[in-house]
Amino acid sequence: MPERLPAAVELREVGPRDGLQNEAPIPVDDRVRLIDALARTGLRLIEAASFVRPDAIPAMAGAEEVMARIDRVPGVVYSALVPNARGAERAIAAEADELEVVVSASETHNRKNVRRSVDDSIIGAGEVAGLARDAEIPVEAIVSTAFGCPYEGEVAPARVASVARRLLDAGARRCALGDTTGMATPRRVDAVLDALSGEGITPDSVGLHFHNTRGAGLANVLAGLERGVVRFDASIGGLGGCPYAPGASGNIVTEDLVHMLEDMGVATGVDLDRLVECALLAERLVGRGLPGQVMRAGPRTKTHAA
Ligand code: COA
Ligand code: ZN
Repeated sequence: MPERLPAAVELREVGPRDGLQNEAPIPVDDRVRLIDALARTGLRLIEAASFVRPDAIPAMAGAEEVMARIDRVPGVVYSALVPNARGAERAIAAEADELEVVVSASETHNRKNVRRSVDDSIIGAGEVAGLARDAEIPVEAIVSTAFGCPYEGEVAPARVASVARRLLDAGARRCALGDTTGMATPRRVDAVLDALSGEGITPDSVGLHFHNTRGAGLANVLAGLERGVVRFDASIGGLGGCPYAPGASGNIVTEDLVHMLEDMGVATGVDLDRLVECALLAERLVGRGLPGQVMRAGPRTKTHAA
């Protein structure tokens, strides 16, 4: 065990966005039901929608309706992903509490995802930050393909750090490193965090967003924790993927992550039983089994009691 892990972490539930965007579209009412159930688990951050072109991501159509119909729990931050200023205007009008602007570290993925160059996306992120400042809400920059790109392969950590630096300079409050297609390993997490630190970006302004495509997700979280990172994204049941990333699979599983962290003495503030109920609900809503394991095996303590 590492000598010192953070006493507590902030988890952001991304299933309603990153998860559902890669599923066959489900009705707005069902998306609202999932978000409302998640908001009653103790989770403080929920990525509720994305304000992108509905024809590009049909599963995210109706973002305005989702935001209007959720039953907002005081203290819960409902964030929205935006690809550009148009998305930011829509999200602000829908009263998102926080914006996430997404830019890939690799040129090819960025062009395929948002049809712009990285440089143009960074200019766009500045516009998003300006709109958010006027609306008095924070913006986080998500740097996608931070640990590798499905089209280009290796992405140099120095490149990731420089994109992150430029996004922070453009007005983002903090950044998250997106492992879009699950290419991270603990060694790569270390390398990218080293490069960020070279740009003066410290772990307190970094979040980590892992996909479990190659099974290294929770190991990568531990690598981040050992470096002092305290913000992690995860998706209920392991819903998720990215439609523009071949081979993408779900995010790391929220309830599996909570189960591991709580046993290690890292507080999440989340009720695991309620989370498992949400995972089972997510399975019913998408009509297929999800990769989450704790929802089937049961929490460790219960296994022992049985
Ligand atoms: N929401 C809704 N409509 C949008 C929009 C947004 N965020 N951004 C642009 N549009 C509309 C414009 O208003 C314009 O409409 P018009 O033709 O009726 O005037 C049209 O789309 C074209 O605008 P343009 O700026 O050329 O955008 P684009 O067609 O190059 O699309 C994106 C760029 C990023 C909006 C689009 O590719 C997209 O939504 N991609 C989804 C990315 C995503 O969610 N990936 C997964 C998450 S990582
Ligand atoms: Zn993702």
